[in-house]
Amino acid sequence: MSLKITFLGHAGFLFDDGRHTCAIDPWLDGNPVATIKAADLKTQHIVVTHGHADHFGDVEQIAKNNGATVYAAYEIIEFLNEKGYEKVQPGNTGGKLKTDFGFVAFTQAFHSSSMGGRYLGQPMGAVINIGGTTIYHCGDTGIFGDMKLIGELYKPDIALIPVGDRFTMGPEHGRRAAEMIGAKIAVPIHYKTFPGMLAEDISAFKPVGIEVKTMNPGETWTRG
Ligand code: NI
Ligand code: MN
Repeated sequence: MSLKITFLGHAGFLFDDGRHTCAIDPWLDGNPVATIKAADLKTQHIVVTHGHADHFGDVEQIAKNNGATVYAAYEIIEFLNEKGYEKVQPGNTGGKLKTDFGFVAFTQAFHSSSMGGRYLGQPMGAVINIGGTTIYHCGDTGIFGDMKLIGELYKPDIALIPVGDRFTMGPEHGRRAAEMIGAKIAVPIHYKTFPGMLAEDISAFKPVGIEVKTMNPGETWTRG
């Protein structure tokens, strides 16, 4: 099986195994590095790590446009229900949901999750299994020792690691995180998007024994 992995910019991705499409944190409108608009994204499934605008801001629109199933914290699902959207799969930290493409599992993340002062549940990372590939998206988080355990539990092939500092790990902590997780390939995310706010130089993100795959927004990588 092969998997097409498209970086949507910032922390967003689209995975396509040829039969199923699944996006995670697809933030496009208002994203200064995005190459498409929210109205243009086609996806059957959407995973949300937490309720901040740079992850969740376009999800209602994209979900409604596509009739996509949304996987997120219970409180984010409640928010969508109030907006009249019912094609949802609520979960919470530690839980795993079987899907028609594989599974979505929610992991812990050390961050926050709210919109306009409304609490939107625990922030989370997500492990997505699709097209025979397992991907660990750390979400927005600081480093924590159980990243090693998450690596052992799910044996991800690819880790998507925030390295922009300020709101998440920076490049040095991201390097340690990649080494703990142990996925053969690490993709740096959540950097450079906001000039002056997020790190632009991530040259310190050099995990030992792990291939760093840097992706440009809009770039698609086909993993055979
Ligand atoms: Ni955030
Ligand atoms: Mn963020």
